[in-house]
Amino acid sequence: MSLLVAITGWEPEPWAERFRRVMPGRNVHLLGESYDPAAIDYVASWKHPPRALANLPNLKVLFSLGAGVDHLFSDPGLPSAPIVRVVDSDLTARMSEYVVLHCLVCLRQQRRYDQQQRRREWIDDRLQPAAADMRVGIMGMGELGQDAAQKLAMLGFQVAGWSRTPRRSVHAEMYAGADELESFLRRSDILVVLLPLTPETRGMIDADLLRKLARDGAFGAPYLINAGRGGLQIERDILTCLDEGSLLGATLDVFEQEPLPGASPLWSHPAVTVTPHNAAMSSPETIGRQVAEQIAAFENGEPLKNIVDSARKY
Ligand code: NDP
Ligand code: OXD
Repeated sequence: MSLLVAITGWEPEPWAERFRRVMPGRNVHLLGESYDPAAIDYVASWKHPPRALANLPNLKVLFSLGAGVDHLFSDPGLPSAPIVRVVDSDLTARMSEYVVLHCLVCLRQQRRYDQQQRRREWIDDRLQPAAADMRVGIMGMGELGQDAAQKLAMLGFQVAGWSRTPRRSVHAEMYAGADELESFLRRSDILVVLLPLTPETRGMIDADLLRKLARDGAFGAPYLINAGRGGLQIERDILTCLDEGSLLGATLDVFEQEPLPGASPLWSHPAVTVTPHNAAMSSPETIGRQVAEQIAAFENGEPLKNIVDSARKY
């Protein structure tokens, strides 16, 4: 059994080392090394170069090392093997930490106090809404969205979720599909985007959508948090909405182009928080073990878990 580790953007070595430790006796190759393409049974990919996997005649399973799989579907030479993505409690918990942190930064106006501190200003205007006054809307109520909803609801936020197909949740008021999108937006003071990037969702966070968010909340304008994918957002529209006041602020972990170019006005906008696409990192420790367990189970005749639907593309 041979596994090919095909990674760009992250250090591949820690992954290869982890796979060698959890799959002793099996061959683990890095892309770029010499190996027999016919001997590769499995690939572990994060943003592999386009067409790099086109000639693996015996490939059985393609593992995405992230939860998102848009990096695979953008490859015109993608092999037809089943795709398995990451669903991992460690990654899910990290994403919820990120979402909760930035909802609280918005609620408690922390960016404003940071700026006041830099200016040595003591201004307390007694404006301190409670979490229960704040309506959070989560776009994407899958593995990540549902966990974030539960943790936000525990803090008292009023949580709603939007998904492609109708879903039930005990923590969030649920909306689904294009017909219910506007009602969902109109009741959201903080919009949390945890959608996958697909042909349907690309570019949907635009000025038209942002201007539909609630304007009658405690701060009079809504806040955006996008930790889904940069391809979901139109950055010039986010800047327009911030500058015209239809958006109060934004926390962005993902960008149209990554790394975010040095010339992007997002870096220095006073109402924008930029993080380097690490809201929820894939850990070689846990995910390496999961891939090894899935391979062992698959070779034992058991079904694969977390298979991606290649028609839906998530
Ligand atoms: P899931 O596949 O579990 O959930 C996706 C959710 O999005 C589902 O609720 C789905 O609806 C909904 N959805 C998909 N397409 C549409 C659409 N057209 N309209 C409305 N809703 C839609 O994914 P995860 O929760 O595991 O991950 C979500 C994304 O988070 C990943 O794809 C990735 O891009 C991003 N991510 C970012 C990370 C970071 O560090 N920034 C880390 C990990 C993931 P339905 O329930 O009906 O299927
Ligand atoms: C992921 C990511 O999809 O880290 O897991 O973006």
